[in-house]
Amino acid sequence: MTRSYDSIRPIKWQDNRLQLMDQRLLPQQEIWLCIDTLQDTHDAIKNMVVRGAPAIGITAAYGAVLSARHHIATNVSTWREGFAKDMQLLAQARPTAINLHWAVQRMRDLVAASDAGNAEARLLIEAGEILQQDIEACYAMGDFGASLISTGSNVLTHCNAGALATGGYGTALGVLRSAAQQQKLSQVFAGETRPWLQGTRLTAWELAHENINCKVIIEGAAASMMQQGKIQTVVVGADRVAANGDVANKIGTYSLAVLARAHNVRFIVAAPTSTIDLNCPSGADIPIEHRAPAEILSLGGRALSHPETEAVNPVFDVTPAEKVDFLVTEKGVMKTPNAKKIRALFA
Ligand code: MRU
Repeated sequence: MTRSYDSIRPIKWQDNRLQLMDQRLLPQQEIWLCIDTLQDTHDAIKNMVVRGAPAIGITAAYGAVLSARHHIATNVSTWREGFAKDMQLLAQARPTAINLHWAVQRMRDLVAASDAGNAEARLLIEAGEILQQDIEACYAMGDFGASLISTGSNVLTHCNAGALATGGYGTALGVLRSAAQQQKLSQVFAGETRPWLQGTRLTAWELAHENINCKVIIEGAAASMMQQGKIQTVVVGADRVAANGDVANKIGTYSLAVLARAHNVRFIVAAPTSTIDLNCPSGADIPIEHRAPAEILSLGGRALSHPETEAVNPVFDVTPAEKVDFLVTEKGVMKTPNAKKIRALFA
């Protein structure tokens, strides 16, 4: 690692297997899970061992290597059939983050284009490239995004869009890392992010690792803090950006965008082009994951409510493009995204 503020890598290929930092246990325990099968890769994504759109995509790419290895060893002449079924399963692990589908498709395309030779080795090289390209994209986004942060800013981020959610460095937290290098940050605030507490558990842990000062706030505090002029910028990541620039991200992001606009606070989304889905015309077409009500109704295994209490648990929301002041990708800064500007990005 050549940069400062860049000490975390949550996904490794080591000893010929996939290794993931178990994000469910952070910050109390830093434990690595070793993964050898496609099913375990799928379960790690579904059960939040690894989360964050780019990190899910990278993990899926390594899952494809494990799948190919298994099916080639079982029957070298029919292995592609088992691989195809596995890729279908993997793509369904979580519905909203497009990076999962993007990475699975990249691995499928590679298999479709390869001859009978050593597909496992080629897939492993591809997965490594997906990981490396993601880190490079985060560096670029970080530097582009930092140019939008004024010196002395208090910046609010939501969920965890950091090294833990990517190959390393992060999208939104990449912007904060680069801004920290340039000594632009006065204070970072992290929204706690119910119910998985990605802000309290992951963002605060990650920034503590880098010695970047971070204070956690509850989501409900954002409005009055903006009203009091205590937040100048909001920077978040994305799980999927539609072709018209609408942004799906962790539930609560839309509230922050509305609040930011009402209080003249700058609202920045940082996401690599692998998070942009040209096949999704608008935010209304993005599938929003709903998770179990129990995630809201209990905490650390302890029930919080009456046993008959019901809950609704959508885990992402959609921020309309017009509420986004800047979309930062590895290709540069886009002011208020729209369909035309997004098309031009891919031209
Ligand atoms: O449910 P999660 O933790 O996977 O949700 C993650 C987010 O919403 C992140 O903000 C998003 O994936 C961007 S990560 C660089």
